[in-house]
Amino acid sequence: MKKSFYITTPIYYVNARPHLGHAYTTIVADVARRFHEMSGMKTFLLTGTDEHGDKIVRAAKKENMTPRAYVDQISGLFRALWPELEISNDAFIRTTDPRHTAVVEQVLQKIYDAGDIYFSEYEGKYCFGCERFYTERELVDGKCPDHETEPETIRESNYFFKMSRYQQWLIDHITENPDFIRPEQYRNEVLAFLREPLEDLCISRPKSRLKWGITLPFDKDFVTYVWFDALINYISAMGYPEGERFAAFWPSVQHLVAKDILKPHGIYWPIMLRAAGIPVYQHLNVHGYWNIDASKMSKSLGNVVEPLELKNIYGLDAFRFFLMRDMAFGRDSSFSESAMVQRINSDLANDLGNLFSRVLAMVHKYFGGIVPEMDPGAEAELGLGLPHDAARAIDAYTEAMEGFAFHKALIAVWEFINQMNKYIDVTAPWELAKKKSTLRQLETLMASFLEGLRIIAGLIYPVMPSTARTMTTHLGLDAQAPFFLLERLRVWKAIPAGIQLPKSITLFPRVETSPRGEEADEDQTVAMKPEISFEDVGRIDLRVATVLRAERIPKAKKLLKLEIDIGEKRTIVAGISESYEPDDLVGKQIIVVANLKPAKLMGVLSQGMLLAAVDESKATVATLDKPVPPGTPLR
Ligand code: MSP
Repeated sequence: MKKSFYITTPIYYVNARPHLGHAYTTIVADVARRFHEMSGMKTFLLTGTDEHGDKIVRAAKKENMTPRAYVDQISGLFRALWPELEISNDAFIRTTDPRHTAVVEQVLQKIYDAGDIYFSEYEGKYCFGCERFYTERELVDGKCPDHETEPETIRESNYFFKMSRYQQWLIDHITENPDFIRPEQYRNEVLAFLREPLEDLCISRPKSRLKWGITLPFDKDFVTYVWFDALINYISAMGYPEGERFAAFWPSVQHLVAKDILKPHGIYWPIMLRAAGIPVYQHLNVHGYWNIDASKMSKSLGNVVEPLELKNIYGLDAFRFFLMRDMAFGRDSSFSESAMVQRINSDLANDLGNLFSRVLAMVHKYFGGIVPEMDPGAEAELGLGLPHDAARAIDAYTEAMEGFAFHKALIAVWEFINQMNKYIDVTAPWELAKKKSTLRQLETLMASFLEGLRIIAGLIYPVMPSTARTMTTHLGLDAQAPFFLLERLRVWKAIPAGIQLPKSITLFPRVETSPRGEEADEDQTVAMKPEISFEDVGRIDLRVATVLRAERIPKAKKLLKLEIDIGEKRTIVAGISESYEPDDLVGKQIIVVANLKPAKLMGVLSQGMLLAAVDESKATVATLDKPVPPGTPLR
């Protein structure tokens, strides 16, 4: 049987219009789903809206609407947004759906019958904004941490869910299943919380105070607490208890939320499932928050442009790419238009876009757009490591995607893109095109580059489905989704020789101006790369090396081969022969990236990269101000 993958987003409150945060989570779910589809799985994506509770009643009142009319309207906005973001959810659940209400009643009754719900009088501090009681320990200076208002003391009889009974079970479950909650920092947060005694959860609200909710099946004077109602959407939407979908997908369910709702998902929900005799979920995937840097957002009509609007300005795929690439899953990130423009220009227009148009333009120039034959003999002569690099990129990508480390998956793809760009530079097809004797090499090279592009198109499909389709069609292939199956991407030769390719196009136009409304920085000709963390810098091992020998590499116009002493002997290849004679370099102390993955360039294995200031085509090698022992690290 085909393996299944079921992914959920939080169901969003309808007291506010959809914004960037909602869009991000739902795009992540869509990306994860498309990736699992590529792995050949049967997939299901669920999203929806959370429509009961005080908050909603108050929001409706503000708009002079009945709760029913109001929730219909806002829920409609969410539902309409997903197709605009190319998100294809399989179902859209609303907590006001009768099928949902019925399941909530059933689950409550089941837990009540099992003796895990009891009635008790309670006096506590209640925050109306959060719709919940707070313990003294949770308050900050006596105030609700979210609303910064003092909660009111209220005394009420209510129903309570005996969560305390399941505390040890949950600790054991999380300990035995290390990736139950991931990334690790959130698992640790939940475990830390569970070190204190767990209080029972108040799961009802008297109707005298709140009517907009699901009536308790065992007491008509109360409605269900919104969180107890909302969490159940993940099973009600699948036809629990008897539905076919539930049977097919529940065993593989993974939830996706941001850190703000870790507690209900990491504590209440597994305990509710356990108490109701339902198997718990596989993984809870928790991401950080997007902070919007309003000063770096351009203004239109005096208002800061809504981040979501940027998709209309720069294109949906670029928008999706930016969100997936710039947030390290799990950590917070800041959203700004200028960071997005930089990403578009560097990763999309320069790296990917140029590679694509260069290769296609060459296939048209040298072969009239007809896919040439690949020749194993010529491949060996060229010493081309592309098939191997592609396989490595697919492995790294797959591992990262499975672990929800989307940014790492994209980094692996871009490493491959940049390897291809470098291959073009070092193999210089325009030179091969000059002689008849190197025609077979040229053909093989072009066919290989086309294969590389096909694989890249497949790998970017989850994040940029429309670009992936365009690229695939331009490679003369059928762009239907099954084409992106990972097992097909692993086959090296899939584009038939002899077919005619359409003319090349620009995938991503460069954004020439600085973001609209921002001050242009005249001096800065090369866009700064996006911000990285201190930790990212620490991953680069920079060392001092002394150049022992230097020589040209035959047939490679730009390359020099350097023998260096970096505390050990190594060989590196550098594209600086237009700026330096080999002899100029011998004896110089240079700076080398020592932990860069070795790569073969024109048949020479390069074990590092030297640093140089590069302006147009001129390179100036970075050296040291005083001699130091070779191998000394730079910090
Ligand atoms: N209704 C509850 C969820 C119930 S699930 C059974 C809720 N709704 S919400 O509308 O407030 O949505 C919260 C979620 O929206 C976050 O967990 C996250 O998925 C997304 N985000 C909202 N703002 C966000 C950011 N600024 N950044 C990233 N995601 C954020 O809580």
